[in-house]
Amino acid sequence: MSDTSQEVVRAYHARTKHRFDAYAEGPGQLDWDAQPAAFRHYPGAPLLELPLAADRYERCYGQLAKKPKNEVTPDLNSLGALLELAFGLSAWKSWGPNRWALRCNPSSGNLHPVEAYVLASKVPGLDDGLHHYDPEFHTLEGRALVAPGAEPAWLAVGLSSIMWREAWKYGERAFRYCQLDVGHAVGTLAYAAALLGWEVVPITMDGLALRHCLGLDRPDDFPPSRYDFTEIEEPEILLALRGPGLHAPPAAAGLTNWLSAADWQGKPSRIDAAPGYRWPAIDQVAVASREVVGSQEALRFAPLPPLAPHPTTAGASEIIRQRRSAQCFDPRPTLAKTAFYRMLDALLPRPQLPWLAQQMSSRIHLQLFVLRVDGLPSGLYLLPRTPAAVVELPAALLPADQRFAECRPVTEFDRDCPAHLGLIQLAEMGLQELQRLARSLSCHQDIASSSAFSLGMLGEFETAITQGDFLRGAVDGHGYRNLLREAGLVGQVLYLEAEAAGVRGTGIGCFFDDPVHQLLGLTGQCYQSVYHFTVGTPINDERIETGPPYPQRQQDA
Ligand SMILES: Cc1cc2nc3c(=O)[nH]c(=O)nc-3n(C[C@H](O)[C@H](O)[C@H](O)COP(=O)(O)O)c2cc1C
Repeated sequence: MSDTSQEVVRAYHARTKHRFDAYAEGPGQLDWDAQPAAFRHYPGAPLLELPLAADRYERCYGQLAKKPKNEVTPDLNSLGALLELAFGLSAWKSWGPNRWALRCNPSSGNLHPVEAYVLASKVPGLDDGLHHYDPEFHTLEGRALVAPGAEPAWLAVGLSSIMWREAWKYGERAFRYCQLDVGHAVGTLAYAAALLGWEVVPITMDGLALRHCLGLDRPDDFPPSRYDFTEIEEPEILLALRGPGLHAPPAAAGLTNWLSAADWQGKPSRIDAAPGYRWPAIDQVAVASREVVGSQEALRFAPLPPLAPHPTTAGASEIIRQRRSAQCFDPRPTLAKTAFYRMLDALLPRPQLPWLAQQMSSRIHLQLFVLRVDGLPSGLYLLPRTPAAVVELPAALLPADQRFAECRPVTEFDRDCPAHLGLIQLAEMGLQELQRLARSLSCHQDIASSSAFSLGMLGEFETAITQGDFLRGAVDGHGYRNLLREAGLVGQVLYLEAEAAGVRGTGIGCFFDDPVHQLLGLTGQCYQSVYHFTVGTPINDERIETGPPYPQRQQDA
């Protein structure tokens, strides 16, 4: 089983690489009028309108690592704020006849495969049971209501993916994007929880048990059919909220038992009645990487000086709601070096927000195109994020051809660079040549070259899918999902840190995989580039109009 799963994962990753001469398999043409439904509803399920109460809990972004002065207990207001800032709408955009919603969690192509479910016991104002979160109306749909019992109060959030939403546009590569999106969503949940003074930690549960606990294996609701691949939701992760008065949720068997007497309500709305394509490679990798034995790797963190509070005076919910992807950058301004170092520092794994939400220790490292950072020579840089990678990654990148012969720690020439960052300059490069490289490697997208810096995330691919399994005591190729999710989580930190610094970020899922490895002299599968990102001064498109996320609702004061 183990070898087979790992082989399927390796084969999937290899076949979904974009190459200069061919993109990964995808639809030949798109009918934008036949896009899968962006929102799922459960008609027939009782609705609970959640308050839009995030403003009541506002506090400074820089203070998020600390608890708020006044303890926030779970109730309908705090739950509403949590879900709004994690998965809710942040704006409606319109241009001519087109109107589309943006959400607090970003998503590749704005296609939003992630669905969120709340499992709760004894949260005041909320029926016990399983609820589906509907971001379109900021409501909870009561899927499985349970009679109050002897359980203490607890709260958990489960995530699933409707992979077809991504596959419709991106074909086989979509599974990767779904996992990156899950990583972003775990990040948005962790930051929203931190605003309330709560923490998010993963719950150990295998994929089939999670599917059951989210009500996704009910044959009457998800009937197997020729088109079930468009409707099914892939179980992803269950996360417990830790906060005042909240106990640990029951383990898988306890949850299953708890739901066995539930009153199930509603039927899932249709996502796509007439799909034009099917991508079996996605179904295969989903099975191969599904968690077979619920397990949690003990997270390892290197000793680091504490992350200094961010100097911004902006509020956290303000930053979370204003977060956007830049679609275009102004190449004239430079980014202050201190802001650059601060962003990188925030990406180092520490036992705090948001890294405690991970299922696996960190295995993502950064290869940076430093384009316009004040006082730093343009060129290629490297940020290993763990002590092991400080040794192993440069060794893997420095093959015999000596292309990085001049490589040196940044502290050697810049006294402002914090020593604990471990930032390495691989090679100085003229801006024009660097721009050409950055742009061409990210599918010729200008956003990778007109920004202050862009980067590729190098994942410890082989270790994640082999040793990751070994450490978790499970053999299921699930480490692949964890690796991609970590990349999404790193991306989410960058999105928010960029906003806090007064600039803007954009995730880049489209890049040419092996040409990135070739640039770095990486051979074999040990490290694979899994996600790109870019940060700079945005240029806003004034033609696009912005409207409030819930125009039909009053902000609850
Ligand atoms: C995993 C991922 C991959 C993305 N890839 C790209 C990309 O290659 N090019 C791009 O312009 N935007 C990319 N984006 C940005 C999305 O298009 C953007 O998040 C989405 O349109 C929603 O807009 P918002 O981030 O402003 O809320 C990506 C975002 C994510 C999360």
